[in-house]
Amino acid sequence: MEKVVVLTGAGMSADSGLKTFRDSDGLWEGHDIQEVATPQAWERDKELVLEFYNQRRKQLHAVDPNEGHRALAELEDQYDVTIITQNVDNLHERAGSSDVVHLHGELSKVRSEENSSLIYDIGGDIIEVGDTAEDGAQLRPHVVWFGEPVPNMRKAADIVPNADILIVIGTSLVVYPAAGLVDLTDQNIPKYIIDPATPELRTFKGWEHVQERAAEGTPKLVQDLLKN
Ligand code: APR
Repeated sequence: MEKVVVLTGAGMSADSGLKTFRDSDGLWEGHDIQEVATPQAWERDKELVLEFYNQRRKQLHAVDPNEGHRALAELEDQYDVTIITQNVDNLHERAGSSDVVHLHGELSKVRSEENSSLIYDIGGDIIEVGDTAEDGAQLRPHVVWFGEPVPNMRKAADIVPNADILIVIGTSLVVYPAAGLVDLTDQNIPKYIIDPATPELRTFKGWEHVQERAAEGTPKLVQDLLKN
């Protein structure tokens, strides 16, 4: 089976009703990213950070995967598909994709702030200051904040060079190290980017730009790939 690697970002889930991070005002659901998504923010105001992620988690459980997520799950009928996502939502899994690598963590999980291997799936629940892991330490969101290392980066960097086809969906590719992954593919493989906007990568030679929303462009591309 040919290997398809799909790199997804916030635009993938925009059609499910989840906002992308970089809105024109530079805010994420009304907050400066520095205020809610950094280790410094966590030290400064745990309550605010937990509340922010509680809201995101609640919102996630109120939305569904879109046609784009579903199409990628269908692609597994004929291809060996790995999805590498910068998204913290679980919409790929809920659509039926079986191999999803989360670069920036998972919203439905929390962990001990002292021991990163004590991870708990809490679904759509909330956590508060005083909620602890079994080691007695405060629980924190199992997400990668700005300035923190990306534990799954090595795994992703090992997967990308094996791609026979690369598909990039809904990411501005401005956040490193994730953005560097696209450079690890063989230059000659088919490379597609599905995004209604035209950031820099779209001008790169050898990429086919599907200038559509994820929920439209992805099913079309998947249908084309499945016909072959
Ligand atoms: N379908 C496809 N693409 C879309 C759609 C849509 N409906 N709507 C917007 N987009 C595109 C935008 O044009 C943009 O290129 O999705 C991209 C979203 O970019 P960002 O908001 O920068 O999101 P992302 O690239 O995922 O951000 C990377 O940065 O904020 C951190 O950790 C966070 O994982 C996130 C990372």
